[in-house]
Amino acid sequence: MATGTTLSRAFPLASRLDERGRLELGGCDAVELAREFGTPAFVVAEDDLTARARAFIAAGRDAGREDFHVVFASKAFPCTAVLELFAREGLWCDAASGGELHLALGAGFAPERIVLHGNAKSEAELRMALRHRVALIVIDNFDEIERLEQLIGDGALADLGPQPVLVRVTPDVRGETHEKISTGQADSKFGFSMDAAPEAIARIGAVAGLALQGVHAHIGSQLLDLEPFRRAAVELARLGDFAVLDLGGGLGVQYTDSQPPPPSIEEYTAAVIGAVADAGIGAGTRLLIEPGRSLCANAAVTLYTVESVKQNVSRWVAVDGGMSDNLRPMLYGAEYEAHVAERFGGSTPCVLAGKHCESGDVIVRDARLADPRPGDVIATPATGAYGFAMASNYNGVPRAPVIFCRDGDARVVVRRETFEDLTARDVR
Ligand code: LLP
Repeated sequence: MATGTTLSRAFPLASRLDERGRLELGGCDAVELAREFGTPAFVVAEDDLTARARAFIAAGRDAGREDFHVVFASKAFPCTAVLELFAREGLWCDAASGGELHLALGAGFAPERIVLHGNAKSEAELRMALRHRVALIVIDNFDEIERLEQLIGDGALADLGPQPVLVRVTPDVRGETHEKISTGQADSKFGFSMDAAPEAIARIGAVAGLALQGVHAHIGSQLLDLEPFRRAAVELARLGDFAVLDLGGGLGVQYTDSQPPPPSIEEYTAAVIGAVADAGIGAGTRLLIEPGRSLCANAAVTLYTVESVKQNVSRWVAVDGGMSDNLRPMLYGAEYEAHVAERFGGSTPCVLAGKHCESGDVIVRDARLADPRPGDVIATPATGAYGFAMASNYNGVPRAPVIFCRDGDARVVVRRETFEDLTARDVR
């Protein structure tokens, strides 16, 4: 836990406590940000996103892999400004729905840098991907092969030439993580089993409009051990020699200072690239990885304002957000830390609760805060991944804005929702 002048490793790179002991993010004072933009708010240190994107690309280069691409799993932070930044840095983009594909194209990702995922792609989503000729459609099941065959047979799409595709397999490799975000086990809703994969590969090979490029696996998320990644790479290599190998995402991040540090971007990238090479996959094979969380989780801090403090056995500190901006503690038992933005290093045990009408709306069960009072700004770091993405309007709470900070300047990149937005879709 952070004390006095040391900041937890969960905060964005280059965050600091100033001379007065106040939190500074991207060169901006957190309390002033809260005043200017209101709370709750996702505050993103732009330089943190840039640094991590560059670290992934450099790690691939340093590991000696020429044809290596970093595909941002946009589901982690589907926000145009984030996507634009990663597009500028030369990343590719993983879209898992028509909506994410729309966001990726709108943010400037060229179709030849977009990978389409999904275990239940609709005809409309497939048609959209085919029409834009995305780099790769990752085929999940036999029905999708048939559907693609029919669509490609349809007039205009046939003229575009064969669509490059991958086959998604579930390699029966399980990493240590929450069961709801584990995907690599044999009985998964994602992809073909290793036994069915050869038939899928053969059936795709027989469809003239599809160009099979290779195989894909994503074994799970928030994985803190490198061994499952290595094993998955070996399993994929067993399926044959392909032009493309896509190893998915899943590298875990630091949510609290007390959590053991996750492998670094460099260690992870070197491990998967090394495993692929050890499995005999030559330099001619294009290698893709799909990090989501590890590119954006630690770039953001959510700022809240304390509304009330009461003693009911525990000391309950209630803030103006909660499960509508961070569902992860409720869904996965995810742990976060919290700090009073202008008084770090607190020791009062508190339960940091949200404003929503259910008991499960607890953001941090065992927070240590410095004498929290109504009006205080609370900062919870590491909220950049899957917070904004899974936000809701539960209890009619307008969704939080996204504020980008850099070199002391702050700008709104997604505005706060208004009450009018809550009724904007009503048809009367
Ligand atoms: N590739 C595919 C095919 C995926 O399904 C995912 C995540 C990723 C890449 C990116 O994984 P990452 O690097 O972010 O671990 N809502 C959950 C996470 C669900 C992840 C789903 N798929 C959470 O908040 O923990």
